[in-house]
Amino acid sequence: MSIAPPLGLLAELTHRCPLACPYCSNPLDLERRSGELDTATWIRVFEEAAALGVLQLHLSGGEPAARADLVELTRGAARAGLYTNLITSGIGLDGARLEALAGAGLDHVQLSVQHVRAEEADLIAGFAGAHARKRGVARELVELGLPLTINAVIHRANIAAVDELVREAVDLGARRIEVAHSQYYGWALKNRAALLPSAAQVAETRATVERLSAELLGAIVIDYVAPDYFARFPKPCMNGWGRRSMNVTPSGRVLPCHAAETIPGLTFWSVRERPLAAIWRESPAFNAFRGSEWMREPCRSCPRKEIDFGGCRCQAFAITGDPRNADPACAYAPAHGSMDAAVAAAQASAGAFAYRRYTRSGERVPAAAAES
Ligand code: FES
Repeated sequence: MSIAPPLGLLAELTHRCPLACPYCSNPLDLERRSGELDTATWIRVFEEAAALGVLQLHLSGGEPAARADLVELTRGAARAGLYTNLITSGIGLDGARLEALAGAGLDHVQLSVQHVRAEEADLIAGFAGAHARKRGVARELVELGLPLTINAVIHRANIAAVDELVREAVDLGARRIEVAHSQYYGWALKNRAALLPSAAQVAETRATVERLSAELLGAIVIDYVAPDYFARFPKPCMNGWGRRSMNVTPSGRVLPCHAAETIPGLTFWSVRERPLAAIWRESPAFNAFRGSEWMREPCRSCPRKEIDFGGCRCQAFAITGDPRNADPACAYAPAHGSMDAAVAAAQASAGAFAYRRYTRSGERVPAAAAES
């Protein structure tokens, strides 16, 4: 099989994060600061990525601003010729640091928001004061001329505020907003019953996005990420396993997607031991679900198999226990009924969050420590 080069690389610079969002898609078992790649190794990875054909680098986490060397990393990525996108909560960024990032060649920022009202936003983030700080960061970014995308993860606790979230993004000067229904991987799966909206709420949100897309044409672009649990066909997760992009964990393991480590039995190679190009082409984890040979029915004979690639392997494993099964988001998947059952069960749930905490012991990392 000929393997085209990847277009994107998501660098999980750290799993440290001051927020405690219940929809966090990072794994249950977070990596420690002591195991993180150092500056020189990350920059070597960026250079190898550019040589391999990667065009876009997403600097992510956890909270990437928790890395003291974020400016240096950005400069190294820009020097390698990569388009750099910072995916951030904004916590840990101030005017001086943002200016330094812009000077280092940062191309774009994706800023997460939880709600339009501070009390609700801070409750969702599990961090007092997050809402106000994010608004300040958004304004400073726009003043610096950095293109801003607002990333609003949608769930039951904020779905009624989609109209206001989009209008606020316009007020903040964002060029784009991602209205993205929560995905249920990693920590988010623990909170599925508290987060899943109803079918009526999802239908209303879709109508709201369509209305606003027409009304605000030219003012902002709205990207809508549909919810798997209300889908007829699955999303082409990662544009197909091992087809377009890769993730590098804080300690250097290279994954086909951010949740791949939830699938047992896969072997992930590390940038500490092998060049990125060899990992992309030869690692057992990347080759496990490339192409369509691994597929079972109904995917194997499905005319959509080159469109959605069987959906999401991680979701298939999380719900059916076997990653080779069709993603249950597909109406033809034998397990599709379990999605409806989860939605029904969620409507009866009280909606209390299990917050994501950084430390394995369950203790909250003080914000100041997480930012240093
Ligand atoms: Fe892993 Fe979809 S998140 S394949």
